[in-house]
Amino acid sequence: MLAIIGGSGLTTLSNLDVSHREVVRTPYGEPSGAVVFGQISGQPAMFLPRHGYGHTIAPHMVNYRANLWALHHHGATGIISVASVGGIRSDLQPGEIVVPNQIVDYTWGRKSTYFEATGTPVTHVDFTEPYDHELCRRIVEAAAALGIEIKVGGVYAATQGPRLESAAEINRFERDGADLVGMTGMPEAVLARELGLPYAAINVIANHAAGRGSSANGIRFESLEHVLQEAMGRVKAIIERLVGSPDNCQPMGMSV
Ligand code: HPA
Repeated sequence: MLAIIGGSGLTTLSNLDVSHREVVRTPYGEPSGAVVFGQISGQPAMFLPRHGYGHTIAPHMVNYRANLWALHHHGATGIISVASVGGIRSDLQPGEIVVPNQIVDYTWGRKSTYFEATGTPVTHVDFTEPYDHELCRRIVEAAAALGIEIKVGGVYAATQGPRLESAAEINRFERDGADLVGMTGMPEAVLARELGLPYAAINVIANHAAGRGSSANGIRFESLEHVLQEAMGRVKAIIERLVGSPDNCQPMGMSV
């Protein structure tokens, strides 16, 4: 069963035919909200809004460990992470959808591993390819089947937030090879890896990154909401197609 983690602009999944909600207690504390169970196109799916139902949990305050643990505990076999981002690469325009293939992590102070209990063996997971190839392929295939244009591949810079970046920070991220910037991709991706859960992201470009394009003189939040709302309609269609496709009935393997 696929689990969808929704970000800004996707706090509910309207095409999920809800069967029940469950408040999950985890060894790591409270997840962002009750996990919603249901069906999309007749196939079981789960949904969790990363920032809570009232969009009140800031990126650095999200309990990523509890969120991933809760979804895994309830039988998730893969995670589709939806998140809005800023576009650094010059061809990435607001409203576009990107499926990234790499991550650079600039976050700090977040609980980013399950392997830290005293007396447990030191464990190093492989993270060469942070995103699951098969799950990414299925996103791309679903978008293509619907004629929805998406950009495939890109380096996601995970930044601490909740503030936006300075123009110089964006220049630095670009020099490091980043194409897009968001605040929630880490440690979500690595925790999924530690649990053996295939993980892929659908990123929506909400704005040009600080100092770039229409954000040359600042990021104007008024324009973001409209862009996100329209783009999330396309994201929901992709998810519906992906979850409902026959492929989804096959168990998914790990990419590592
Ligand atoms: N930076 C970081 N996170 C974001 C941005 C941004 O410009 N836009 C949406 N999420």
